[in-house]
Amino acid sequence: MIIKPKFRGFICTTSHPVGCAHSVQEQINYVKQQKPIQGPKKVLVIGASTGYGLASRIVATFGSGASTLGVFLEKPASNGNTATAGWYNTAAFETAATEAGYYAKSINGDAFSDQVKEKTIALIKEELGQVDLVVYSIAAPRRTHPVSGEMFTSVIKPIGDSFTSKTVDMNSNEIVDVTLEPASEQEIRSTVAVMGGEDWERWMHLLKEAGVLAPGATTISYSYIGPKITYPIYKEGTIGRAKDHLYATSKEINKQIQDINGKAFVAVNKALVTQASAAIPVVPLYLMLLARVMGKKGLDENCIEQMYRLLASRLYDTEKLPNGEHLIRIDDYEMQDDVQAEVSALWEKVCIGEIDIIPDLEKYREEFFKLFGFGFDDVDYEEDVREDVPIVSIK
Ligand code: NAI
Repeated sequence: MIIKPKFRGFICTTSHPVGCAHSVQEQINYVKQQKPIQGPKKVLVIGASTGYGLASRIVATFGSGASTLGVFLEKPASNGNTATAGWYNTAAFETAATEAGYYAKSINGDAFSDQVKEKTIALIKEELGQVDLVVYSIAAPRRTHPVSGEMFTSVIKPIGDSFTSKTVDMNSNEIVDVTLEPASEQEIRSTVAVMGGEDWERWMHLLKEAGVLAPGATTISYSYIGPKITYPIYKEGTIGRAKDHLYATSKEINKQIQDINGKAFVAVNKALVTQASAAIPVVPLYLMLLARVMGKKGLDENCIEQMYRLLASRLYDTEKLPNGEHLIRIDDYEMQDDVQAEVSALWEKVCIGEIDIIPDLEKYREEFFKLFGFGFDDVDYEEDVREDVPIVSIK
């Protein structure tokens, strides 16, 4: 099959297996060029196929020599459709990890369900015994509650008042105004149910009950805060409310795993182009300006660089771990005063049309298409490739 990108809304509906493998290999190469990490040895990554979860898995494996079990929700190729990018990423990751002698297996299914949790626990018991790190990196549009059966849909909306801001219209390349109406109480509750900490806590509870958490095990989940310009749509909106819940949950999990000397953390990561962030209104424009400023200052980082720094110089460097507080700020470069001052100045100018945003938009688009395996110079996109790439160890 000759695969070309097809764009719909804010997603790409096709993915390229060779391009995704290329992207995974670039991430592996980056980690192999860094100093080894005295880090985790047996890792469960929930949300392991794209973005921050995939990068965490790659760092754990190639940086710390860990065996990894990945859980995600992806589609294999079928009926002439390509697989999803996360499927191809995982196929490439597992091949590379296995060839390098590392254990890597995956479970494809709904992480919110108890069946997937039970399957994961059974596999850990059988093959790994226990895990010493659990990464929870899910970004999902909906969740069916495992006990009540209620279906929750998350929304990205402001709370209280409507919010009007500039945003980029990806079709016309123009800066336009967007007004977002405030969320209802039900929408706030649903977003917290999907993106808050309830499911993370359930995972940790069941893992602990089953005795598959190693003494001293660590768990981490990811959050975002960002600058004032995105507060109404992020920090003070529905997703921010869910992240508050996630952080509150980390404190509960800390108490629950104290007896095995376990620790729970939330890392506040940098804003990056991923499938999840592309769906948030206003944020892509901020991301474009941020990349311009951080790039100029030599401070820009992608997912793999962020996750390497998180594991190497924070999570497994106990001297740098925050005392008592379980919040790790790995968004420190993004939030530097000088970076934010320049982004704000650009934001004002973009609002009155003084700067040319087209080069930034092109860069953003390149990054976006790379998430689906498109746009790598070394990949021949005219080549007929097999779309039905298997993930050898999939359960
Ligand atoms: P992503 O969209 O790249 O990855 C989401 C992962 O969740 C994928 O592996 C997907 O398969 C998995 N997933 C989704 N629904 C699932 C389900 N029902 N069952 C099993 N797996 C499921 O997202 P990204 O951006 O890497 O986000 C991960 C976390 O990082 C989120 O909590 C997000 O809020 C956070 N974060 C993201 C930032 C960004 O700028 N992208 C910044 C800071 C934090």
